[in-house]
Amino acid sequence: MRLQLLIFVLFANLATSRKHYKGRKYDLTLFVRNHNVSDATFFRLVGVDNTADFNVSAGNTFEHTFEVRRKGFWTLFVEFPGDRYAKSPRKIISRDSYRKWVMEVYYYPGAVGFSEWHKLSRRGEMHIHG
Ligand SMILES: *[C@@H]1O[C@H](CO)[C@@H](O)[C@H](O)[C@H]1NC(C)=O
Ligand SMILES: *[C@@H]1O[C@H](CO)[C@@H](O)[C@H](O)[C@H]1NC(C)=O
Repeated sequence: MRLQLLIFVLFANLATSRKHYKGRKYDLTLFVRNHNVSDATFFRLVGVDNTADFNVSAGNTFEHTFEVRRKGFWTLFVEFPGDRYAKSPRKIISRDSYRKWVMEVYYYPGAVGFSEWHKLSRRGEMHIHG
């Protein structure tokens, strides 16, 4: 598994694109599996025309289906007390792409580890890496 460790940076800039394009809408379901992040204040998924704030405790998985109209980037932010946050690698998901993606989140001292977004298996089970 390719794990990317990212250090905290100060003062989140969570601006999302305000542009809107007409298009056929489709459903995109994203899962965030929190392995052992216990002190986050909240999580934020930001993607094309969508933002979802949520809490997911260690050992649990958040699931949300978004209505999407166009191809674009998806990023997960993990927010911590004191305006600290960790930001996942961005993933571009298009309308023609797979509809269900999972990202795993790990906690390390001073850093968050994000897996790459990977497809939910056909049986509907999570791929557990490592
Ligand atoms: C997440 O939990 C925090 C602390 O319990 C709470 O203040 C916040 O409103 C929750 N956020 C969401 C999106 O549920
Ligand atoms: C969280 O889980 C990862 C992967 O199992 C592990 O390497 C890491 O040490 C854990 N973090 C803490 C703070 O226990």
